[in-house]
Order: sequence, then C-alpha cells, then structure tokens
Amino acid sequence: MRATLAPSLASALQIGFCAGVSATRDVREYHTTMFSATAFLSASVHTRGSWLGSEKKSTVWWKRANSVAERRRRCSALRLIISPDQRTADRSDQPSSDGSRGVTGSPTVRRRRTKDPFNPDFKAAPRFQEIYPSSEKVYREVVHEPTGERLRVPFRRIYLTNGEHLDVYDTSGPQGYDPHDGLPKLRQRWIERREKRGDPCFTQLYYARKGIITEEMLFAAVRENVDPEFVRQEVAAGRAIIPSNKKALELEPMVVGPNFSVKVNANFGNSAVASNIEDEVEKLQWSVLWGADTVMDLSTGEHIPLVRNWILRNSPVPVGTVPIYEALDKVGGVVEDLNWEVFRDTVIEQAEAGVSYFTIHAGVRLAYIPLTARRLTGIVSRGGSIHAKWCIAHRKENFAYEHWDELCEIMRQYDVAFSIGDGLRPGCIHDANDEAQFAELKTQGELTRRAWAFDVQVMNEGPGHVPLHKIPENMEKQKKWCSSEDGSMGPAPFYTLGPLVIDHAAGRDHISSCIGAANIAMHGTALLCYVTPKEHLGLPNADDVKEGLLAYRIAAHAANLAKGLPGAQARDDAISKARFEFRWSDQFNLSLAPLDAKRHHDEALPAEAAKSAPFCSMCSYDFCSMRITQDIRKFAAENGYGTGITTGMDALPIHPHECESFVQAENEHTKSL
Ligand SMILES: *[C@@H]1O[C@H](CO)[C@@H](O)[C@H](O)[C@H]1NC(C)=O
Ligand SMILES: *[C@@H]1O[C@H](CO)[C@@H](O)[C@H](O)[C@H]1NC(C)=O
Repeated sequence: MRATLAPSLASALQIGFCAGVSATRDVREYHTTMFSATAFLSASVHTRGSWLGSEKKSTVWWKRANSVAERRRRCSALRLIISPDQRTADRSDQPSSDGSRGVTGSPTVRRRRTKDPFNPDFKAAPRFQEIYPSSEKVYREVVHEPTGERLRVPFRRIYLTNGEHLDVYDTSGPQGYDPHDGLPKLRQRWIERREKRGDPCFTQLYYARKGIITEEMLFAAVRENVDPEFVRQEVAAGRAIIPSNKKALELEPMVVGPNFSVKVNANFGNSAVASNIEDEVEKLQWSVLWGADTVMDLSTGEHIPLVRNWILRNSPVPVGTVPIYEALDKVGGVVEDLNWEVFRDTVIEQAEAGVSYFTIHAGVRLAYIPLTARRLTGIVSRGGSIHAKWCIAHRKENFAYEHWDELCEIMRQYDVAFSIGDGLRPGCIHDANDEAQFAELKTQGELTRRAWAFDVQVMNEGPGHVPLHKIPENMEKQKKWCSSEDGSMGPAPFYTLGPLVIDHAAGRDHISSCIGAANIAMHGTALLCYVTPKEHLGLPNADDVKEGLLAYRIAAHAANLAKGLPGAQARDDAISKARFEFRWSDQFNLSLAPLDAKRHHDEALPAEAAKSAPFCSMCSYDFCSMRITQDIRKFAAENGYGTGITTGMDALPIHPHECESFVQAENEHTKSL
C-alpha cells in the first residue's frame, strides 16, 4: 500500500479506512487493501499483526467507528500519530534560495498541505535542458490534408560530438508554461470542427471505421514513423486505441497497441495522509520528462476534482482515472452507500473535465467473489474490493456491469476509452493465474465486445504478481478472449502492471516488476503501468517516479527490440558506436538518464580529458577490451589480415602515452579501495 507513511501494513490499512476507504489507491497497484473474502462477509477489515494490537482489537476498533463523522475524527487522530515527519517537513518547508532544485535537477522534497487549491503555489517546473543537456526539442511539420491543419509533432533531438544527431520519441510536452495557465490547447480547432459538423459520436474508433484518418491518427503515426492509414486500420480493428477525450485539448495524441512501440504509464495522485496539489503537478511534469506516455491520477485525498483539473490542464499525455474513488468519496467512504446514480454522475463529471480513459472494474461479478476465498492475499485491487464489498453487502450484481451499455453511451459522447479493470488480479505469486482471475478476464472480453458495438475504444487491464513461467498464458488468454468471436476485431490492447515476478523485493519492486513487464510486453502487451521502488511501502515522491519510469523505459524498449519494430535499434546502435569509439559525452547523452551516467563515470575519472580516454575505471587502459579490439583491427589492417574492418579505429581519440595521467589516477583510485 502506497498511501501511507505508517509503520506497518496494519496501521496503513486503518489509515486507508479512516479516509473512508478512499485512502486506498487501487487500480494498477496491487496489495493495497488486503481484504480477504471472509473479511468482506464479516464486513470487517482483515489486518495482520497491528500497531494497534491484535488483529481482533483493530477490527473491533474499526467496526465501532460506525458513522462517517466518527471515521473522519479517528482519521485526524491517526494523522497526528502517524505523520510526525510530515509535521517536521511542514516546518522546514522553506523553498531553497537556488530555486529548490539540486545539481542533478532532482526535485527537492517539500511536503505541506496546499493552502489555496484554486491557486496553488506551484514550484518551478523541472527543466528539459537540465535533464537532457545535449538535446533540443524539434518539431516535424505535417499537413492534415482533409482539414489543412498543420500539425507540429515533437521529437527530442540528441546532438552528438561527431556532428550526427538522433531524434527520439518525446513525451515532455510544451515547455515553459505557467501551470496556473495550463498548456496550450493544441486540439481546440480539431474538436470545434467536429462539433460544428454535429458528429453523432466522437470516438477515434467511430472515425476509423468510417475510413477517416483524424488529426490524432496522423499525429500518432508521425510519432511512430508509420503510415497514418496503418494507424487507422489498427484503431478500426480495435487493436489500438488513441485515448483522447474531446475535452482534453492539451494532449499530444499517441497510440497504444501491440503493433506500435510499447508505452509506459505512470501513476500518482494524493492520498488522505500525504501529498498535495503542488507535488502532484510536479510529479506529472517529472513523469513526462522521464518518458511517461500516459499518467493516471489516483487521488483519493482532499480536493479530488481540483487535483485532477490541475493535472488535466497541464498534461501533454492522456490522463486516466478510477472514477469509483471519487464516487466513494462522495458517499463519505461508506461502500454500502454507493449506487449507480452516484457512479454515473461521477463518470460524467470526469469525462466533462477531460479524462481520457477510465478504469472500471465491471468484471468483478458477484459470482466470482467466492472464488477468491482461498487466496493468500484475497482481493488486492482497491476498485475491485470496493465493488466486491458492495456486491456482497447488497447481494446484487456489480452496478457497473449491469449498466455497462449506459456507460458506453457516455464514453462515446466524449471519446473516453475504457480501461477495463482487473479487480480480481492476483496480489501474490501464490494466487497467480487462478480461477477468479481468469473468470474476470473472460468477462472483460464480453465487456470489450459490447463497448466496440458502441464505437467505444477499449483496453484491458492485466496482472499483477505472476511468476515468469506463468506470464505467457495471461497474454494468450487475453488475446483469445478479448477479441470478437468472428476474429474481425481485436484483440484489444492489454495494459498490465508489471507483473512482479517475485514477491520479496519490497524496496526494489520496480526491478522485480520490470522483468515481468519486459516479458509480457514481448508477448504483446501494449501499455505497461510502472511500479516505483515505493510499491507496497508508501506514496512515491518525484524521485521514485523517476526510478519507476526509467526501469519501465528499459522494459518497454527491450520489448520493442524483441518485437523487431522498425528502427527500434537505432539508439542502441548509436550508443554502442559511441562506446566503441570512446565518445564518452555521446554515451552519456544517448543514455536514458544522461546526468546519472556521467556521474557514475566521473566518480573515478572526473577530469575533462577522461571524456575522450580510451578506457574507463572499470578495466583501465591495459584491460580495455574495446581498446584492444581497436589495436587488433589496426594491426590487421596494417598487416593485411582481413580488409576494411576499420570502424572505430580512426576514432581512437588519444595515443596511449597521453593516457598516463589517467592510468596513474586510476591506479591511485584502485589502491585506495
Ligand atoms: C499487427 O498485430 C497483429 C496481431 O497482434 C499481427 O497479427 C500482425 O501481423 C501485426 N501487423 C503488423 C504490420 O505488424
Ligand atoms: C553531452 O554532450 C556534451 C558535448 O556534446 C557534453 O558537454 C555534455 O557534458 C554531455 N552531457 C552529459 C550529461 O554528459
């Protein structure tokens, strides 16, 4: 559970419940509310070993808090108990004089409550130039013929010391805008034209089926270096989606589908015990700089609609949410008091605000809940547990399932895509690929086909915690079940969190999960929801967001290579060439996080001249295999062994005798170890 600073899972749970279950932050995070099926039936919270005492005691403690007011009161009491460090942070909260940013461009930790949610005290935005010192934003211009609209499609151009450059996919969005004003409204004219025409439906699927290549399809095609007609076909077949609510005028369109580059989603959002609007907007800005293709606002704390609105107005990427969180907040956190009308109104409000995809756990059907009874970790999805609790309490079918067609009607008016939730996903290795999980996946397929009938775009969410050998089965079943029966449509894109391939990597779950993510993406998953090092432990800060995203950029790219996407290898080849030719600066600049690469190199060899030395501190001059290879090739060329293999040789930057000072420095360093 991320949503807490609490010392134990048990207390974390209680804090979550204090906020009326709304402190739970589900969707793509697992193991949040550790409800077991029995816990539902007894309507008590199942905790293990508690800071408040025994499991029994904490359950009773909670059960007695019947009224909303009482829950809220206990919540404030808990807040005082659990957040001493937050209060300390409040006191030492003065922005530093240097603009509150360290040398590595990393945001400083600053926690305090937002004073005025209508006019937040935003921090200086993280700067593109600080993070990518040798890069520039460039735009490829293309004209959308049917409308004459000129599109400017962003790329990041990385300049190299040998005069070459490389253009890479760029998610960072327009730079230099005051968050109070929001980003420019890129899609305004596109949408106005459609509204003026009085189109009956605004989804990309609708246009694609009519054979129309929209501005969004063209924009996404340029980003992917593919033919726009191919994008249209993939969207028309339900195999790809372009999440793009017509009210999200700021977003730069992108496409999610197995035939395109693998995308990465970052989650953030405040909770009842931590974070604030300024921090969440900073995490958004930080996420898109580090390559988030989509983001989810999972806020459950104060000011849910306001946090969302600030994020939407400042996001160059599609924003997703889990509307059940806000619906639950509206009924004071009492799950039993939820109903279809509250949920529907929330969905409409969020669609109106510009959310581009909704996680809806409509596949958690009443009949599947008992299937989780023998699980080790029960239902671990927050949204799933809320729906399950409601179904059990009322002995009724999930209202989102019952009213699915009405939801489709709403979605098609805005073009909000469904991200059909996997509320019964496994929360641990023990529960992977079980009956409950696959029962829900089958229902996700049924819901997918119903949405397609309304021209609504769909993707399916997937697990979770799955050991490596059980991953392919997930993908196979999703492909089979989430397609149309006659094979003309689908499969809908799969969107997974991780999966985590082991359970005991707390603190390193971004690594455990990105191993699974690379694997499942290689098999066809189109969108990967990141996991940060804070997973299971607390609410991620901006640095955790960065670590999670970098891990997932690795997973996504590994899959792009495995799938053989055209041009996927260009950046790898460029950095390998720079490495072989000892162009250190280029190696740094071509890597995922240039400043981090440079810092590691400079730890032992900080001198400027070392940036062209034919070795580094790992092997030193004599043992540098790349340097030796170059010698071999030089020798071969001079003495006639082999012909023409001179790549890199001419680039040997300096003669060995010039390296003596580095060798010496390096020897001293070795001795000092
Ligand atoms: C697109 O994806 C489908 C199914 O995933 C695959 O069969 C097809 O070959 C792909 N097409 C291209 C051009 O990559
Ligand atoms: C990127 O390359 C430039 C030279 O082109 C160099 O000055 C700069 O230090 C490099 N960036 C990093 C992070 O090393």
